[in-house]
Amino acid sequence: MAPRKIIIDTDPGQDDAVAILLALASPEDVTVLGITAVAGNVPLSLTEKNARIVCELAGKPDTLVFAGCDAPLARKLVTAEHVHGKTGLDGPQMADPTMPLQDQHAVDFIIDTLRREPSGTVTLCPIGPLTNIATAFQRAPDIIDRVQEIVLMGGAYFEVGNITPTAEFNIYVDPEAAKIVFGAGVPLVVMPLDVTHKALTTKDRIAAFRAMGTKVGDMVAAWTDFFERFDMEKYGSEGAPLHDPCTIAYLIQPELFAGRHINVEIETASELTLGMTVADWWRVTDRPANTLFIKDIDAAGFYDLLATRLARL
Ligand code: RIB
Ligand code: CA
Repeated sequence: MAPRKIIIDTDPGQDDAVAILLALASPEDVTVLGITAVAGNVPLSLTEKNARIVCELAGKPDTLVFAGCDAPLARKLVTAEHVHGKTGLDGPQMADPTMPLQDQHAVDFIIDTLRREPSGTVTLCPIGPLTNIATAFQRAPDIIDRVQEIVLMGGAYFEVGNITPTAEFNIYVDPEAAKIVFGAGVPLVVMPLDVTHKALTTKDRIAAFRAMGTKVGDMVAAWTDFFERFDMEKYGSEGAPLHDPCTIAYLIQPELFAGRHINVEIETASELTLGMTVADWWRVTDRPANTLFIKDIDAAGFYDLLATRLARL
C-alpha cells in the first residue's frame, strides 16, 4: 500500500519530537509533506525552531517546516514550560538549527497542499492546539471535504484533564479551534489521555533508547528522562506518557489501538469545564458519532515499534 501523505501540526514538546522522529523514520508508511508549527507548549518562535532541530536530528534537513499561528483564535496563549521546560525541548543540550524555515505561513501551506493533492489523499496529524487547522478551515472551507482523515492527540474522558480538572492541554489552549475541527465533519481519530496514559515510559524502555548507541537514541532518552518527572510527581506513575507518537503509530500499526466510534463535543461556554471533550462513550445521546475515540493500546508493541523505527535514524 502507498505511504499515507501527512502534514504534522505540532508544538514541540519532547513528545512531539518523538512523533516527528517516528514519522521521518517510516517512509514506507508515511510521507511527510510538511511540518506546521503552532504555539502551544512554548511560544511559536520556539516550536518552529524545535521542529527544525528535530528534523535535523533525524537527518532530514530538507523537510519543509512552516510557522503558523502564534496565539489561539480567541484567547490568550497558555503554555506548558512547567512540563517541557523553558525551551520546550529541555533535557539535552541542543545546537540551533541551520535548516531554513519556509517563508509561507503554515495555514497557507495547509490550504495550498489540500487544494493541490488529489481529494481524500492527505491526512492531518495535529499534536498541539488546533489553531492552525481551524484557521485553515475558516479561511478555505473548500478544503474540509478534501481531507482524508484527521488523526490527532487531544482530549480526555475517563482520564479527566491534565491542565484543568476537566480539560487536556491541546484542547484547553484553543477550545474554539477544537470546536471547529470536531464539528467540521472530517473523519476523526482521537488519541486522548485515556490511551496515552497507558503508553508510559519505563526505565527499561528509556534504557532501550539509550542502548541504540545513536544520537537519536541518546536525545530521546534524555528528553523522556526530563519529560517524565512532571507526570511521575503528579500521578505517582512509574514513567511519563508519550502522548503524540500515538498518532503516528496509529498510521503505521492501527492494530495496536482500540476505541469506539462515538460523539465528542467541545465545551467552550463554561469557564469551569472549558475545553472538556464531552465524550458520549455510553451513547446516551442521539448526537451523531464524529470520532473514533481511542481508549486502549498494546503498550509493549508501541514501544517495540518506536525502538525499531528510531534505530533507523
Ligand atoms: O496534553 C498532552 C499534549 O499537550 C501533548 O501534545 C503535549 O505535547 C502537549 O502539547
Ligand atoms: Ca504536542
